[in-house]
Amino acid sequence: MIPTIQDLDFRDKRVIVRVDYNVPLTEAGDIVDDTRIKASLPTLEALFERGARQLVLLTHIGRPDGKRVPHLSTDKVALRLMQHLGKTVQKVDDCVDVELPETPVVMLENVRFHEEEEANDAEFARKLAQNGELFVNDAFGTAHREHASTVGVTKHVKGCVGLLIQKELHYLDIHRIEKPVVTILGGAKLETKLPLLQRMLPNVDKLLVGGAMIFTFYKARGWEVGKSLLDEKNMTMAQMLTNNDKVVLPTDVVVAPSPKDGDRAKVVPAQGIPADMIGLDIGPESVEHFKHVLSGAKTVVWNGPLGFVEEKPFGEATIAIMEHLAELTKGGVITIVGGGDSIAMVERHDLDEKFTHVSTGGGASMKLMEGKKLPALQALER
Ligand code: 3PG
Repeated sequence: MIPTIQDLDFRDKRVIVRVDYNVPLTEAGDIVDDTRIKASLPTLEALFERGARQLVLLTHIGRPDGKRVPHLSTDKVALRLMQHLGKTVQKVDDCVDVELPETPVVMLENVRFHEEEEANDAEFARKLAQNGELFVNDAFGTAHREHASTVGVTKHVKGCVGLLIQKELHYLDIHRIEKPVVTILGGAKLETKLPLLQRMLPNVDKLLVGGAMIFTFYKARGWEVGKSLLDEKNMTMAQMLTNNDKVVLPTDVVVAPSPKDGDRAKVVPAQGIPADMIGLDIGPESVEHFKHVLSGAKTVVWNGPLGFVEEKPFGEATIAIMEHLAELTKGGVITIVGGGDSIAMVERHDLDEKFTHVSTGGGASMKLMEGKKLPALQALER
């Protein structure tokens, strides 16, 4: 069993809270989306209600690789948190060896400014633990990382998970998920997606494939893919998976001479991609077929857009499926969205309230879908 905040006595305690405020930023460091900050509020409020004297917040932002990178500092997230929480949040300039002010909330500096964080350095973890008397991990998005602030620190201070992690586990634990499960996997990060798809297959009933991955499957079948993106490295894997009857591939695609040539887009059969064209979305026939498969699901997990949604009209299939999922939710299907690009799409179309659960974790939620344990949670189980 993983301890929760009901299991610890927070009265008059200084509590370290590992949050995941790794929010999307502009180049100047302005916050583009603060979903993860808002998602941490219930835990912070619950800790105060349970008598905590002070909360000391610990997070990473971006991948500064052990260096101080000014635009990745926690200044702006501290400010945004203060606006949402309505309590004073004081930012300090480091995350170890710092004197903590007596404000209700303290925001430590980006923990990845120290290379010891990702190395899960024991001495660094001990120093992190000195920031409080109890530890709450609510950083679901980082729970698949074995770092000092997620794993090492738990050796030195008693800890539990927060409400956000509890909620994420409720929806994403593959052993509890209601079947049949249909997963929709899209996106453009090719090298990671095909192996992920393979690992997820045993745990799902159908896997609808969209995004750039589909062209590797087509190529594996010997079809012409024109100038579409390919994952040459995983071609053998695609060859093996292409006949798996859980894998559902689009039967038509939207092609254009380039992503900028939306006005020259046309729909072609999957086996008829012209040599001078690039595939940029799945076609309308595939959308209808995907909808049909989805109608048999009790749970739908969606990660990754189906087309090149950055340019019109290549986001149409994703929008159509997203709206369909919102309808299914109304009918009682459990719908879960994960992954930064999908969440951004859902929010852009004001559909976030229409899904059962919008996960704050990309990699972490996919690991759970693979049936894997998350190191940060295992560390608290010990
Ligand atoms: C995420 O955004 O997926 C988490 O914050 C983890 O970030 P990372 O992939 O840089 O470890």
